[in-house]
Amino acid sequence: METPSSLPPAPCSQPPKPNMAASIGSLKMRNPVTVASGTFGYGPEYADLVDLNRLGAITVKGICPDENIGNPTPRTFETRGGMLNAIGLPGPGAKGFIEKYVPFLKQYDVPVIVNIWGKGMEDYGKVVEMLDGEETVSAYEINLSCPNVKEGGSAFGTDTDSFSRVIELVRGKTQKPIIPKLAPNVPDIGKFAKAAEDCGADAISIMNSYPAMAINIDTLEPELANRTGGLSGPAIKPIAIKLVWDAAKATTLPIIGMGGIYEPEDAIEFMVAGATAVAVGTANFTDPSTAQRVIAGIENYLVEKGHSSIADIVGTIKA
Ligand SMILES: Cc1cc2nc3c(=O)[nH]c(=O)nc-3n(C[C@H](O)[C@H](O)[C@H](O)COP(=O)(O)O)c2cc1C
Repeated sequence: METPSSLPPAPCSQPPKPNMAASIGSLKMRNPVTVASGTFGYGPEYADLVDLNRLGAITVKGICPDENIGNPTPRTFETRGGMLNAIGLPGPGAKGFIEKYVPFLKQYDVPVIVNIWGKGMEDYGKVVEMLDGEETVSAYEINLSCPNVKEGGSAFGTDTDSFSRVIELVRGKTQKPIIPKLAPNVPDIGKFAKAAEDCGADAISIMNSYPAMAINIDTLEPELANRTGGLSGPAIKPIAIKLVWDAAKATTLPIIGMGGIYEPEDAIEFMVAGATAVAVGTANFTDPSTAQRVIAGIENYLVEKGHSSIADIVGTIKA
């Protein structure tokens, strides 16, 4: 009689599942897909619609040391192929985040990337000091590129000196992975990618929304109360792809790519350009299941192309 181990394999056995795990410094993601800061709240807002444990990471809305109310309304405007926003980074502050959201996020087995920002340089250090003792905080994404706040934001992200000083300041406050988020409106993104690496960052994320505006031709007023805002969604994807490609040539740091990801093919394009991981942003507003669909689609693509690991496609662009 045959022993079970000598039996031939079942005739219709499934191909082995590819390895979807991605590493951002010491941050281990079960798959390379997170959500973009500001498009997914702090987690609870989407928990009834999305299985949070299936995401590679949750990236929460920007946190600064103190509570912030944001900009006056209207603060969003739909454009062809995207949206404009000038939300102005409202949020509960570090203390509010710890009290209100950490107990919720703690229940999940998923890394939490906290997006941080400051009105002045010292705020970036302060917010990390306030958050760093929380085990639930897995990494920091440093927003150096928000087009919608007067102080801070893109003022730091478009000048290499201030950019480097903020990263060094944050690096001195934490052992956790730090991920500066780069501004798209710079002449040479490679310089910022390299500066991030030189200042001890673990990864970079690209891109924030692009400074933009829309005008109502009847009232002759801007559509946003803030007058200008940031453009996001499918319209910016080709810009983001080029920025990721340019940055990947200038640094060996892992890149989290984002900008207009709606379908698995969009995410794969970012990875071929050089992104180790990706974030789904504006698409969450129209279809909260986008990230889950993107994860499944990437896995199918790897199987179809005969790859055993997600790493096999990163930076494989022939150019
Ligand atoms: C409504 C809204 C709020 C955002 N808030 C933040 C934020 O708090 N911090 C940040 O770094 N980026 C923020 N972003 C930028 C996104 O994280 C992302 O970088 C950008 O939207 C591009 O990706 P997408 O085209 O997939 O949306 C926000 C974007 C939108 C649309």
